[in-house]
Amino acid sequence: MTHVIVLGNEKGGSGKTTTAMHVVIALLKSGCRVGAIDLDLRQRSLTRYFENRRKFSELKGKDLCFPVISEVEACSIDSREDSMRQETENLAAALSALEGCDFAVIDCPGANTHLSRLAHIHADTIITPLNDSFVDFDLLARIDPETGRISGPSLYSEMVWDARKRRAMTGVPGSIDWVVLRNRLSATRANNKKRMGEKLDDLSARIGFRLARGFGDRVIYRELFPTGLTLLDLGGKDSPVRLSTMSHVTARLEIRSLIASLNLPRAVSKDGQDAPDAVAAA
Ligand SMILES: Nc1ncnc2c1ncn2[C@@H]1O[C@H](COP(=O)(O)OP(=O)(O)OP(=O)(O)O)[C@@H](O)[C@H]1O
Ligand SMILES: [Mg+2]
Repeated sequence: MTHVIVLGNEKGGSGKTTTAMHVVIALLKSGCRVGAIDLDLRQRSLTRYFENRRKFSELKGKDLCFPVISEVEACSIDSREDSMRQETENLAAALSALEGCDFAVIDCPGANTHLSRLAHIHADTIITPLNDSFVDFDLLARIDPETGRISGPSLYSEMVWDARKRRAMTGVPGSIDWVVLRNRLSATRANNKKRMGEKLDDLSARIGFRLARGFGDRVIYRELFPTGLTLLDLGGKDSPVRLSTMSHVTARLEIRSLIASLNLPRAVSKDGQDAPDAVAAA
């Protein structure tokens, strides 16, 4: 069975594509067979990331790892019902093309689209990167301005709740493991960091997600896109950016920590041997 990992958050710019790319490369480096689906049919940032990686690999003669890329066709039917039916078929086809893979990583757009909702129903694991800001928190839960207490779930949590319900109704075995990842953590804004941490701890118990350690706010993430590289590719002799600073080393540790906290099923590599631990290889 292919384990489906969905990167989702209705809030735009929270780090879904960046995290998807790092998860794909970490799993590939651990010897797993990995497929990738870009559901952001407008921006296509994950697709562009892989295109840049391909070009960089050819230009530098560098042997880089790639996932199996499965495309979902855009749907241009006017009727809402027909278009939803067509999208359901298109996503099912894209997923079945990845049947031989241990993992399928799906990058969702930062909006509540029909395709995104469908992907959430297929998810075994949802990773939700979240900027360390109460503006982003508002998509998970509402905070009462008077008491400062959480007053109830919000738009994206309701979407995940709905996906969990629908999955149970379809009889798909297993439940959805939801992991929230704090992103762009600041080294200086200690007060905000602490308050966000407290609210997220409180919320995780109420609406059923686990909290991963998170990624710091680092310029390197913004610089890697044009070469298609990830932090896990750096350090080799052809690498344009050397893994030299403490910040880069810490960033890699953060990625390893995320992969470890996902508790993914141990995959078997092509030669029939147990794949090495994704954490050790990352
Ligand atoms: N930890 C980080 N530190 C610094 N910059 C980051 C970090 N994570 C992501 N970014 C940057 O933030 C921007 C948004 O990231 P990304 O495109 O991954 O978000 P997204 O959730 O996929 O956005 P969208 O909703 O538009 O698809 C990018 O410029 C990316 O390079
Ligand atoms: Mg994106």
